[in-house]
Amino acid sequence: MIYLDNHSTTRCDTAVVDAMLPWLTQEYGNPHSSHAAGIAAADIIGRSIATVAGLVGAKPDSIVFTSGATESNNLAIRGVCLHPRQKRRHIVTVTTEHPAVLDVVEDLKRDGFRVTIVPVIQSGSPGAGIVDIDRLAAAIDDDTAIVSVMAANNEVGSIAPMRAIADLVHDRGAVLHCDATQVLGRSPIDIAAMDIDLVSGSAHKFYGPKGIGVLVVGGGDRRIRLRPQIVGGGQQRGIRSGTMAPAMAVGLARALEICTESMDADRVRIRAMRDTLWQRLCDGIAGIELNGPALGGDDRLAGNLNFRLPTIEGESWMAAAAEVAFSTGSACSNVDPTPSHVLMAMGLSESEARRSARFGIGRFNTMDEMERASAILVEARDRLANLA
Ligand SMILES: Cc1ncc(COP(=O)(O)O)c(C=O)c1O
Repeated sequence: MIYLDNHSTTRCDTAVVDAMLPWLTQEYGNPHSSHAAGIAAADIIGRSIATVAGLVGAKPDSIVFTSGATESNNLAIRGVCLHPRQKRRHIVTVTTEHPAVLDVVEDLKRDGFRVTIVPVIQSGSPGAGIVDIDRLAAAIDDDTAIVSVMAANNEVGSIAPMRAIADLVHDRGAVLHCDATQVLGRSPIDIAAMDIDLVSGSAHKFYGPKGIGVLVVGGGDRRIRLRPQIVGGGQQRGIRSGTMAPAMAVGLARALEICTESMDADRVRIRAMRDTLWQRLCDGIAGIELNGPALGGDDRLAGNLNFRLPTIEGESWMAAAAEVAFSTGSACSNVDPTPSHVLMAMGLSESEARRSARFGIGRFNTMDEMERASAILVEARDRLANLA
């Protein structure tokens, strides 16, 4: 198996597992107990929080651990909108957001919220897939409680200009939430400098364990009030109750630390692998077309490749090239067999979306895998074309 689906999830780094293990088997105190075992567990959580805060440009008391980005997005958006002191009744987001944002705002309509979903730059234009900034500016009004924009898209890798968006949002007195799940650990992020109020991330996207995420609350100077979505023991300052998980906190922090140390070198290596894969596929398959921003620029994730085939459907291609793990839509919503809502929102036809494939190249891939994968993929496509 050649694993090229790193937007969906990543392999947990063995160095991360090694750092986690003692906190499962030896130091297993409840971090909320006041005996020595509890104090040791609380201490390692405090150190993990300090590490994460330092790596993302946030204050330690702004870090909230969750079960993953889905929960972080729910807590951010529902938390702001449903706070008892919230007077504003309007939410703004973007057509290409993850379902963990789109389904939340859809649900809030039932609580009486007005929702505006802003389009993205259409396929065929430079920066395809990036939010249309003019339409975003026009959508925000004095009743807007929160604007939710993802830092980078999980299907086409398009990167949003978050700093400029922060100014637009704050000029109207609204709160900015950013789903940074695909960016955390992949590109540098300084939440204070970017002036983002709420940032979601998930450890399993950056070589950490599945089951822990983070919400950074109050990156800038503004006071962000959140209504808790999980109540119970009052842990994490009452924002997210439940016994904290020391091993998971260590895993998230260690994974982010490792990613940050090698981030610049990894990005160069990953981009070179992605470009080689694309070149080999273009050489072997006539008429394939890129989806999303151009590969050379800074507005696309280095490891992302998304394109459409001239005739064959992505699902058939995937079945014919079973040794290569890739995706034909967003793996996060694969239970839903409809064509990708991201590609459709970029103006692709249903047929074009169905003929599309997504690859995510990661830190553990090698150039040799690009050569082998492209050979398998081209051969599988030829086989299918001959059957047609
Ligand atoms: C952009 C984005 N947001 C949210 C999620 C959900 O993350 P999690 O699996 O941690 O709930 C994903 C991926 O699954 C994603 O790519």
